[in-house]
Amino acid sequence: MVANKEKIRGKKVLVTGGLGFVGHNIVKTLVNDWQCDVTVVDNCLNSSPAVLGGTLQKIKLIQASVLDDNFYSLIDEAEYLFHLACVQIAHSGKDPVMDLRVNAESTLRMPPPPLTCRSMKPGASTVPGGMTSVGQSATP
Ligand SMILES: NC(=O)c1ccc[n+]([C@@H]2O[C@H](COP(=O)([O-])OP(=O)(O)OC[C@H]3O[C@@H](n4cnc5c(N)ncnc54)[C@H](O)[C@@H]3O)[C@@H](O)[C@H]2O)c1
Repeated sequence: MVANKEKIRGKKVLVTGGLGFVGHNIVKTLVNDWQCDVTVVDNCLNSSPAVLGGTLQKIKLIQASVLDDNFYSLIDEAEYLFHLACVQIAHSGKDPVMDLRVNAESTLRMPPPPLTCRSMKPGASTVPGGMTSVGQSATP
């Protein structure tokens, strides 16, 4: 596990949904513990930049949707990607098409592992190699 974590130290990391409940904690860890160069893409549907506190000054925040075509050019610049943008139940009931597009379509358009890491179940690890990745089973 430690060896896996060391792989990400100092790397360029893109975090979608990086202002969310899971995302902002990962961003703080990446920046403050692993000295990563972090870019966050979050449309603030369910969050605010304020959650990052002082860490906000240490990252690049792009307030945009993962559904925007421009988003995909950001992936090319990243060495690791944590895809945590999601639409929660409070919004999905009002706009199920957006739910489908953000939660499913955007994930299907991501590059294959090991670049992409997405938490898919409680207790999933939060580092590349240890985290449940797109294309892998969430359970053994
Ligand atoms: N919260 C948990 O306990 C938990 C546990 C295990 C796994 N997960 C998974 O982790 C992921 C994140 O969950 P969370 O609890 O942090 O959710 P959250 O709602 O707190 O965070 C999601 C973030 O995505 C952003 N967002 C929504 N639509 C977007 C879009 N189109 N483009 C860019 N950003 C967008 C929201 O503004 C928000 O900041 C989900 O896949 C969830 O299933 C969560």
